[in-house]
Amino acid sequence: MTEKQINIRFHEFRTIEELEDDDRELARAAIEAMGGAYAPYSHFHVGAAVRLSNGKIVKGANQENAAFPSGLCAERTAMFSAGATYPDKDILSLALAGGVMGRLGSEPATPCGACRQVMAQYQAKARKPLSVIMIGASRIWKFDKVDDILPLIFDSI
Ligand code: THU
Repeated sequence: MTEKQINIRFHEFRTIEELEDDDRELARAAIEAMGGAYAPYSHFHVGAAVRLSNGKIVKGANQENAAFPSGLCAERTAMFSAGATYPDKDILSLALAGGVMGRLGSEPATPCGACRQVMAQYQAKARKPLSVIMIGASRIWKFDKVDDILPLIFDSI
């Protein structure tokens, strides 16, 4: 028996001002996208923004439903919208932000497992790393690839 370890590498920033230009723009878009949340049940507003290989930014926000599973997270709303609108373009990065009643939370918003799996799919489709930026008012985390937030990815492609 051998014990193994998986190390996760990421960068922490104090404010979005510390991010590189493209990432800062994407982070601002994710915060802006929180305004599109429809969350009458959880009151937790999440915004996401993806950057495509043509430079465009596509935004999404969580959309809830009285039949709970029929709603969708902000990240998948953004990724599916980008995939459907620009099927030939790659998703190169995703930023997300969230908070109760639309007020940005202090700690970074972290994506749910289903959204991580969908990120993994678009990363595999692109055959390029998809970076993930998680935004909070007190700190921001950047992961360079989906593998860092979804170790041992299932990928049958
Ligand atoms: N939510 C997201 O939009 N993204 C996530 O990664 C986790 C959760 C939404 C779903 C639901 O509308 C609300 O946050 C509370 O769970």
